[in-house]
Amino acid sequence: MKSVRELNLYGKKVLVRVDYNLPMDENLNITDDNRILSSLPLIEYLIKKEAKIILISHMGRPSGKKEPELSLAPAADRLSRLLSRDVAFVDECIGQDVKDAVDKLHNSEILLLENLRFHKQEKANDPVFSKALASLCDVYVNDAFSVSHRCHASIVGIPEFTAESAAGFLLEKELASYHAAIDNPERPLVAIVGGVKVSSKLGALENMLKYVDKLIIGGAMANTFLKSRGIDVGASRIEEALIETAFGIIKEAEQKGIEFYLPVDLVVAEKFDKDALKKEVSIKDIPASWMALDIGSETGKLFAEALKGAGTIVWNGPMGVFEMERFRSGTQQIADAVAESNGFSVIGGGDTDLAVKLCNAADKMDYISTGGGAFLCLMEGKQLPGVAALEKNHK
Ligand code: 3PG
Repeated sequence: MKSVRELNLYGKKVLVRVDYNLPMDENLNITDDNRILSSLPLIEYLIKKEAKIILISHMGRPSGKKEPELSLAPAADRLSRLLSRDVAFVDECIGQDVKDAVDKLHNSEILLLENLRFHKQEKANDPVFSKALASLCDVYVNDAFSVSHRCHASIVGIPEFTAESAAGFLLEKELASYHAAIDNPERPLVAIVGGVKVSSKLGALENMLKYVDKLIIGGAMANTFLKSRGIDVGASRIEEALIETAFGIIKEAEQKGIEFYLPVDLVVAEKFDKDALKKEVSIKDIPASWMALDIGSETGKLFAEALKGAGTIVWNGPMGVFEMERFRSGTQQIADAVAESNGFSVIGGGDTDLAVKLCNAADKMDYISTGGGAFLCLMEGKQLPGVAALEKNHK
C-alpha cells in the first residue's frame, strides 16, 4: 500500500475519503468532532503541498436517498472553523454541479461533497458510481480507517478506477498502533473484551487466543461465559446458542496457558432502567429475576490486579451499561487501571472510546482508535477491504 507521503501532490485533484460520520443532537449540532480533528493532519499536509482537496464521506445510515438531517453541511462549517479557512460545500457528490465546483478549485482549496450514502450505489459498491467519483480526481486517498471494513464504492470501488491511490495519515496511524500492540508486543499482552454480545466478538475472541497472555471478559457477554461454567445468572442477558462455544473458549485458553478472567461479583438490578433498584452480589447469589448491568467491585479489583505489570493492553468493549452513571463504576475501575498502567494501551471498538471519555481517562491512553467495526475486524485477524483495495491499486 502506498502512502500519501510518496505522492507528488502539487496542483493535483486529490479525492480524500474521510469518515465524518459524526454524532449530532436534535438541532443538528455536532456533539463530538473527534473524527474531524483526526482528519486535520492530512488536510493540513495537502494544503501545504498545494493540492486541490476534495473530501468525501458518509453520515449515518440513510436509505439511499436524501435525508436533510444527515447532510454533511454542518461538517463543512466545523472543518472551516477548525482550519480557519473556507471549505466549499456542494449538496451532491456526483453530477455537473460537483464537476463545476471541482474545476473551480485552486491549489490548497477545500471542497466537501454531500453524504455518499444518499446514493444507494455507495453501499452496493456500484462500479458506475465509483467511476463517477474517481473521475473527479487525479489521486485517491483513503483516510477513513473507521469505515474501511465496508466494501462500499468509496472504499473499495474508487481505487479500481484511479491511476494512483494511497493511504492517508490516520489510516496509517490506526494500522500501525494496532499492529504495534499485536505483532510484536511488550509482554504480558492483556486483552480486555466486554460489551453486550459474545456473537459479535466471537471472531475477535478466537483470534486473540493466538496472541494474548491474559484474557479478561466483562460486560453482558460475560454472562454467557458464566452460564457455561454452571453459574445461574438469573434474568441476565445471555446467548443460549453460544454457551458451548463460550465454554470452548475457556478450555482453549486453559490449554494454551492463557490466564482467563471472569467476574466474581456483579452489580445486578431489578430491571433495565437507570433508576432500578440495584445491589452488588457474588456470582453465586444472583437473584432469579435480577439482571447483571455491571461488574462488581471485587471483580474490578481482580481485573485491575491482572492489568498490573501489563506490557500491552488491548481493550474492546465496556464492562457494563456505562451510559447509565449508576452502572458505570466497573468500567471506571478498568479505565483507571488501564490509565495507571505503564503498558502500551490501545482502545477501540464499539463504545469503548466514549466509555473512556466518560470515565475521564482518555488522555491517559496511548491510542484510542476512531474505529468500531473496523477495529473489531483487525481483532478478528482480517485484512480491511479498504486496505486490500489500496494494495491492489499499488500492484
Ligand atoms: C462508524 O461509525 O463505525 C463508521 O462510520 C461506519 O459506519 P457504518 O457502521 O454505518 O458503516
